[in-house]
Amino acid sequence: MRAIAVRPGVAGSIHTRHVPRPSVGDVPGGHGVLVQLLRVGLDGTDKEISQGLFGTAPEGDDYLIVGHESLGRVIATGPQVSSELGPGALVVATVRRPGDSVYDQLGMQDFTTEAARERGINLLHGYLSEYYVDDARFLVPLPQSLSTVGVLLEPMSIAQKGVQQAIEIQRRLRVWRPARAAVTGAGTIGLLATLILRLRGIDVTVLSRRPRPYHNSDLAEAIGATYLSTSDTTFAAAASARGPFDLIFEASGYSPLAFEAAGVLGTNGVLVLSGVTGGERMIEVDANAINQGFVLGNKVMVGTVNASRDDFVRGVTDMLRAEAFHPGWLGRLLTTPIHGLDDCAAVVAALEDKGAIKAYVEIGAMPGAVEDRR
Ligand code: BGC
Ligand code: ZN
Repeated sequence: MRAIAVRPGVAGSIHTRHVPRPSVGDVPGGHGVLVQLLRVGLDGTDKEISQGLFGTAPEGDDYLIVGHESLGRVIATGPQVSSELGPGALVVATVRRPGDSVYDQLGMQDFTTEAARERGINLLHGYLSEYYVDDARFLVPLPQSLSTVGVLLEPMSIAQKGVQQAIEIQRRLRVWRPARAAVTGAGTIGLLATLILRLRGIDVTVLSRRPRPYHNSDLAEAIGATYLSTSDTTFAAAASARGPFDLIFEASGYSPLAFEAAGVLGTNGVLVLSGVTGGERMIEVDANAINQGFVLGNKVMVGTVNASRDDFVRGVTDMLRAEAFHPGWLGRLLTTPIHGLDDCAAVVAALEDKGAIKAYVEIGAMPGAVEDRR
């Protein structure tokens, strides 16, 4: 079968290659599920991997099949797999696989203390191929009504984990009722975080660099959020006009905003950081003011990465609610399709495209229609 892979650490090494087709029996104990890919989404992590800045190959291989945002259809299963994952089922696979730490052993590999093993990113091949096989416990079923937008479930799970972490942490307050939130960044994660918060009736201000109106600000406003450009306003001014913010979700990928957010977070507030910011960036901050604000205001700053299976399941529920309350909105995030597994130039171009919200590779015909070219 065909797959898109890189040689990790080598910029510009992205290529299409032929690899053996996996089979259900690759997973022991009858728990294997063979899935045909329909769509695979691309994000900033894939960009870093294609630039040779991130990613590691599985032991014994000198290449890494990329792609961690999957949507596929079950083709075959082992005897121990339950019927909700039977042939024809629409499924999304989680990304991280357990290691040996106590968190991994409890199914909480998104909190692992070891080097993370992540499909399509680190040490495990990903999904940008015709088929994959995995253990049923790492797959999440979706209703057929989400077949066009289901490729958004993995980024949705990232936003869900961030919001869920805030909720877990704020149990300390007994009666946390967030009324106002800010989201920084209007890319896929920022917009999905905005959606999750709006579905909970929270007043959301989205702050991003580009002045409105454009596609992303339209999407924020379409679900009742207020969009402000950081070229027209400061975070502090936004907080006096639209705050105090009980929750700030940082998803801009621009680390100085994390410290601006820390400076304007409301009393008892929680600041969730989700940006994976490589390289180095030095800034000056008013350390006394931020420190004192956190102390006197009982504030929390928390980092979040990856997602649990439960976050994926919550994501399915919210995607269904989104389709009910805001029909067609999720589909408007799917800006940049790429056709098939042969056009690596289109993949690279999509990763560079600043106007894209979600770029994704369209792979699947219906089950049975794809010829096996091993
Ligand atoms: C993925 C996460 C992963 C993180 C770090 C993100 O792009 O969506 O699942 O944990 O990269 O590798
Ligand atoms: Zn990702």
